Amino acid sequence: MRHLRKSKFGILAIAAACFLLLVGYKEQTIRVHYTKDMVSVAHRGASHFAPENTRAAFQKSVELNADFLECDVHVSKDGELIIMHDDKIDRTTNGSGFIKEFTLDELKQLDAGASFSKEFKGEQILTLNELIDEFYDQIGLLIELKNPKLYPGIEEKIASLLGEYDDLSSIIVQSFDIDSMKKMSVLLPNLQVAVLIHPKDSLLSAAKLDDLASFASYINFNVSFLNKKTVERVHDRGAKVFVWSKKDKNIIAKAHKYNVDGIITDFSNWPYEELIYLAQE
Ligand code: G3P
Ligand code: CA
Repeated sequence: MRHLRKSKFGILAIAAACFLLLVGYKEQTIRVHYTKDMVSVAHRGASHFAPENTRAAFQKSVELNADFLECDVHVSKDGELIIMHDDKIDRTTNGSGFIKEFTLDELKQLDAGASFSKEFKGEQILTLNELIDEFYDQIGLLIELKNPKLYPGIEEKIASLLGEYDDLSSIIVQSFDIDSMKKMSVLLPNLQVAVLIHPKDSLLSAAKLDDLASFASYINFNVSFLNKKTVERVHDRGAKVFVWSKKDKNIIAKAHKYNVDGIITDFSNWPYEELIYLAQE
């Protein structure tokens, strides 16, 4: 009987040792394969975990070790730069109407968290000034001008705000609006700008790519409309590629296969966790 107890203990000890070895192996795999060459960008903040484009989502992206947060910018009735994705406040707040119809004071009364979860009730909308004040020192900023044609002069406002910073190396401004990004690059020549390629325009001629790469540091694509050849064509012109998808987990494997420079997702943990899976393949 005494011998049997010893044996059971022995089996348990071996099982525990195997478990620890496995856990140890996983952690080591993350460290070995994680590389800052491919950055992780938190889409609208870590927006799977907290209400998009709010302070809570941006704080979560810092907590999850993302390299950049991504945010979307509009302009209020009184000219303030407002962080929100849609032109209207309806989907993400308890209000209704276009952002540009409200003053900052009115927008600050809105609840931008409760529609995500009651845990975030009372979350206020942020201005770009507030976001930069709080996060500039903590994480890179990928700032998207969502619909610049709705807000004449938005590029000058952004240039005036960013122009106060000596070091713009951790800031990128992006838009689907190519003219707007050309204008940004002229207003602030030391700012990195990115163009977002709309899925319907994904087949880019050599001349078009030459033009984009003449002012943009990044040319960014949706993961469903990108291939390795396109990434090579962008790299050949000295620009980088970020790939985005809100929720498609295949983005991680594709990003590695295509050799892109950054991954934009709602899940800021994926770029780290999925590397384990890739390493074990
Ligand atoms: O950064 C890419 C992505 O933000 C573009 O799509 O609609 O989420 O702003 P959207
Ligand atoms: Ca965006």
